[in-house]
Amino acid sequence: MAIDIKYLDKFILATEKAAIGSFFYIGKKDKVGADQGAVDNMRSELNKIDMKGTVVIGEGEMDEAPMLYVGEEVGTKKGPLFDIALDPLEGTNFVANDLPNSFSMIAVTEKNNLFSAPDTYMEKIAIGGNLPKNLLDLDNSVEENLSILAKAKNKKLNEMYACVLKRPRHDKIINSLNNLGVNIEYISDGDVSGAISVADENSKIDIYLGIGGGPEGVLAAAALSCLGGQIQTRLVLDKNQIVRAEKFGIKDLKKKYNIEDMVKGDVLFCATAVTDGELVPGIINNKNSYTTSTFALHKSSKTKKKVSNIHKI
Ligand code: FBP
Repeated sequence: MAIDIKYLDKFILATEKAAIGSFFYIGKKDKVGADQGAVDNMRSELNKIDMKGTVVIGEGEMDEAPMLYVGEEVGTKKGPLFDIALDPLEGTNFVANDLPNSFSMIAVTEKNNLFSAPDTYMEKIAIGGNLPKNLLDLDNSVEENLSILAKAKNKKLNEMYACVLKRPRHDKIINSLNNLGVNIEYISDGDVSGAISVADENSKIDIYLGIGGGPEGVLAAAALSCLGGQIQTRLVLDKNQIVRAEKFGIKDLKKKYNIEDMVKGDVLFCATAVTDGELVPGIINNKNSYTTSTFALHKSSKTKKKVSNIHKI
């Protein structure tokens, strides 16, 4: 069944209010405060929506996060059953240091349609639309995946662009890309927007690859499923995290998740920028009001829009 599009504006308001909650913290070197400001506002807005929502990707597990934890019920408890993946502030470093590309994000599906990934690392490989299904595979070498993709896109390897999170754990991937002559766009954080960039017609990125957060992988999958992109993921688990993953009901710890394993049915996605983003501009403080900008998607109606709203202070 489709999710009624009237819910899109309600969730947009939740990410707008969350982004405003972080605004005060821009450049203040306070990651925790910035996140808390976003969490408080998002939670209070979600609880005004007529729905029975369950947080499946949130601020942590029940015993470690007081608010918006995995399993928390949100909404007025009247209305449709939704699964909700949220990141009140994706890019806490960006807000703390006044850098671009921080967002408040939410993805919504009908109940039982969204993968509840534990807060562990995740291998990810994402590509854009109009390509054969499940074209790439995490078990292929970087060289194999890039050659397959270049062929499918009818491009030379040195015309290809890869987005990679700049971390020492990616040195091997980076070496391979350099040897192939593939261009690399590094990001210092914020791999949800990095992964989504593969499906953005204004971006030159052909592929996103590397290891980032598991919850962020599901948020990216939700957006890509609206945009016609692809993503394959696999959890990266140390000994302690295996227990955690099992608590989440995951039996096959080495499973490769294709997009339809993570997100099923209809999807809503919204991302409001706190600082300027590549998708939309950041919040503007107009003295007596804030102007917010949100990138919003609704899969079944093929809605893809950028929404600006003014909020009185
Ligand atoms: P936060 O906003 O929670 O700080 O996460 C930012 C982020 O860059 C994610 O986008 C990414 O998935 C993850 O952190 C990478 O983790 P790490 O910094 O440990 O490599």
